[in-house]
Amino acid sequence: MKGQIILITGSSSGIGRETAYRFAREGAKVILTFYRGKARGERAQRRCRRLGAKDTFLLHLDVTDSRSIKAAATKIARKYRKVDYLINNAGVLAFSPFRRQTSRNIERQIRTNLEGLIKMTSALLPFVRKGIINIASAAGEEAYAQMSVYCATKFGVRGFTQALAQEHRRLRIGCVNPDQTATRLSGYVGRPPAEVAEVVYRTVSGAVKMKPGGDVDVWEIIP
Ligand SMILES: NC(=O)c1ccc[n+]([C@@H]2O[C@H](COP(=O)([O-])OP(=O)(O)OC[C@H]3O[C@@H](n4cnc5c(N)ncnc54)[C@H](OP(=O)(O)O)[C@@H]3O)[C@@H](O)[C@H]2O)c1
Repeated sequence: MKGQIILITGSSSGIGRETAYRFAREGAKVILTFYRGKARGERAQRRCRRLGAKDTFLLHLDVTDSRSIKAAATKIARKYRKVDYLINNAGVLAFSPFRRQTSRNIERQIRTNLEGLIKMTSALLPFVRKGIINIASAAGEEAYAQMSVYCATKFGVRGFTQALAQEHRRLRIGCVNPDQTATRLSGYVGRPPAEVAEVVYRTVSGAVKMKPGGDVDVWEIIP
């Protein structure tokens, strides 16, 4: 992984941040993005440097804003020309019964988790050298009450990933599906995010096999 350029969206927090640390430890060049958490993003960037990242780059990114995606893609292309892996991780959850899901929460989840991930992939695809890992979810394989809209987005991410992999056979494309993980999104309940980061790392490095467009379920690798 030394010197590999790894772009991780939503790396100011949770699973994305731990994934940035995991790649930093291997001497990768890590591109981090934050949305609202600039100070957290800056702290994560500094930690990546201390852990051994060969290079780091921190960007603001709002995946619900097409201009923000375009601006980020332009900056990344200008600085690096190519990225080895794109890890689409940014995501949100509004946990509540469907009848209480407001229009704003419906939009926020679909636009961040699904539309944002698709647009980010579209903008970065010309620069991706080796592969794309989409962070979907156990809730993209099985439905859970109070997560109706979130499940719709994550099932959607898996469908998108499967089709994309058929069109781009030279790239390694697939989903890593975490189960409940202790981050802000889950109210800090679940497995340590470092375990998910480890599975992402092993998937990218090839230690864990992934079929084209397929799923790597975190609970299968680290029970
Ligand atoms: N935690 C779980 O139990 C669990 C289980 C399965 C799958 N996942 C998935 O794992 C991924 C990471 O979530 P997490 O659990 O690590 O949650 P988290 O700690 O809340 O982190 C979410 C990240 O996404 C960023 N983000 C939010 N909205 C964004 C936007 N509009 N544009 C760009 N970035 C945005 C946040 O940035 P700021 O903080 O800077 O605003 C943050 O860095 C998500 O896709 C989630 O669905 C999580």
